[in-house]
Amino acid sequence: DWKMSSFVETTIAQLRERIGNGKVLCALSGGVDSSVAAVLLSKAIGKQLTCVFVDHGLLRKNEGDEVEAVFGPNGSYELNFIRVNAQQRYYEKLKGVTEPEAKRMIIGEEFIRVFEEEARKIGAVDYLVQGTIYPDVIESGLGKSAVIKSHHNVGGLPDVVDFKEIVEPLRMLFKDEVRKVGLELGIPDYLVYRQPFPGPGLGIRIIGEVTEEKVKIVQEADYIYREEIAKAGLDKGLGQYFAALTNMRSVGVMGDFRTYDYAIALRAVNTSDFMTADAAQLPWEVLGKVTNRIVNEVKGVNRVMYDCTGKPPATIEFE
Ligand code: XMP
Repeated sequence: DWKMSSFVETTIAQLRERIGNGKVLCALSGGVDSSVAAVLLSKAIGKQLTCVFVDHGLLRKNEGDEVEAVFGPNGSYELNFIRVNAQQRYYEKLKGVTEPEAKRMIIGEEFIRVFEEEARKIGAVDYLVQGTIYPDVIESGLGKSAVIKSHHNVGGLPDVVDFKEIVEPLRMLFKDEVRKVGLELGIPDYLVYRQPFPGPGLGIRIIGEVTEEKVKIVQEADYIYREEIAKAGLDKGLGQYFAALTNMRSVGVMGDFRTYDYAIALRAVNTSDFMTADAAQLPWEVLGKVTNRIVNEVKGVNRVMYDCTGKPPATIEFE
């Protein structure tokens, strides 16, 4: 794609010019935007860039290791990579907390604390990288109406870290252009086409209290779901799909025994802008296969349900 390759070339040259010998800090989430922004900076200034990746213990199965494989010391790019394993710290903070907004606040605040600590270790930086894309620019210019959910992503950092300027290399791009740039830069397909994943992660896909045990359950169920969706060739055609752990336990039977275990909810939606969405009509065979695998392979689950609700009145995520 000539347009994207010339974007890449020009941007790298401009970043080099602007940053000079400066030190740059990036909060890497493993999402498309922050990944593409980080790689552009890495190509421009190499080791002057430090990426901090916070593993909050609410990522999808294997996700932390996947991000590390691409960006870490054995990965493909020249940059300093710091993975903060803050899992236990988050589980501790979330103990006993059941209210969705309270959970979101704790996860968001803890992210800032962890990032702040790392930034302090690194010392003064000149630039902070943000993966802001064009739709974010437009959205923040409009007065937001009632807050349905307090969103958390890596956008809320500037006040807690000392730096001179913000660098936003993707500011003029739409999402599909960001993906094209990502491919142009050689970022692996599975990162470039990753479906949206909320900042608070699995924390808002576990209804009610978050515990390490529940994280494991939803990770395994979600992994099976994604695997079967991909096998059925449905992955690229859906807006978003994931498993959530309901807070409901119900009675079941296994062999000669009674069980009293959790119910997993499966969600899949089609959407053009994530403001509204329709429940996807997944083939019954696929749902059946996923259900069988989850109840057989995931300990603590004896029931699987499919969410048929659109947005509105439901939201895409459960909390
Ligand atoms: P809802 O649940 O509000 O989600 O219908 C709409 C889209 O936004 C994602 N989402 C988030 N993304 N930080 C994010 O970066 C958040 O706190 C957050 N909450 C929801 C959600 O996954 C869906 O794509």
